[in-house]
Amino acid sequence: MNNLKAELLRGLWYVACPGSEIKPGKMVGRKLMGELVLLARDNKGKVFALRDICPHRGIPLRHGWFDGEHVQCCYHGWKFDTDGVCVDIPSTHEYQTIDFSKITCGAYPVVEQQGLIWIYFSEKGEKPEDGRQPVPPMLPDFGADDGPSVAIMQPFICSVDHAALGLMDPTHAAFVHTSWWFKKEGAKLRPKEKQFEPSDLGWAMVRHRIPPQNIAYRKLLGDNVTTEIRYRLPGLRIEHIKGDKHSVVGLTTITPVTEDETEVRQMFWTTMGWVKPLKPLVRHLMNVFLGQDRRVVIQQREGLEYNPKLMLINDADTQGRWWMQLKEEWTRSQAEKRDFDNPVKAKTLRWMS
Ligand code: FES
Ligand SMILES: [Fe+2]
Repeated sequence: MNNLKAELLRGLWYVACPGSEIKPGKMVGRKLMGELVLLARDNKGKVFALRDICPHRGIPLRHGWFDGEHVQCCYHGWKFDTDGVCVDIPSTHEYQTIDFSKITCGAYPVVEQQGLIWIYFSEKGEKPEDGRQPVPPMLPDFGADDGPSVAIMQPFICSVDHAALGLMDPTHAAFVHTSWWFKKEGAKLRPKEKQFEPSDLGWAMVRHRIPPQNIAYRKLLGDNVTTEIRYRLPGLRIEHIKGDKHSVVGLTTITPVTEDETEVRQMFWTTMGWVKPLKPLVRHLMNVFLGQDRRVVIQQREGLEYNPKLMLINDADTQGRWWMQLKEEWTRSQAEKRDFDNPVKAKTLRWMS
């Protein structure tokens, strides 16, 4: 692990943004995985993503025009379809023949499901349907058209590694996430013991009962509330809390902007319809919570500039160690063109938090 930068994993699907951020006929320019990406929705409602660099002279295509079918560059008017293939070069004289279809700005595979836009960053131009590549995960209990109830994003000035280590760190909450509505400052730490097992591209904290003294869960979700948390490449945390009456799925995603900047998103889906009018309050609380994590990485950066030697200790940091092992195995399996061999073994972890 380089303290300030992290290598970017390819051959995987990343969350670009909620689908609601891409309005029909509008172009949105983003930097993701160190690349300029243009996201837009065509006049049939389908989202597409192009490399946001005109192959003629390199100007980003988002500065041009989009009529719902074609993107036109603002410099010399070259036009591209939603697959990135050139369909017109206005300067072409009737005595000239140019095979436009041989010119492309490049396109990214995109999937929109459960209200999220997932984008595939290939290793070497391969298509995700080439076989070995995983698909974007479907969240349990919700259909392909069910979007999140609330979604927030905060930019973190840190590499994807430090964002991920924070995400899977079970012991910082008592110090970082203190507030009157969550954990009180100076609250007594309690022993925790949880079972973990390998799961698709990562690991899972095995489904377990939420202790009945957590009355709020019972009131909201019904009896027999259980929870399961999955972590998987390329930096997804999926928490599924389920009671007899309702369920909630929380998703946190970390998408690299560059090697040392990361977008962290938090969203949740719920079957509890009454949450709707409370959205502004819930969004505020989520922003406070995520902002506490963000403040820590800003402070942490001061020290990381000096490239200190860092530590991962047992068992509190075991998940952090698994994250580094998963990344390493993913990179190696891609290079060797073989299936991913999950390095995580089932284990009970204990800590105080
Ligand atoms: S730079 Fe895009 S058309 Fe010339
Ligand atoms: Fe946190």
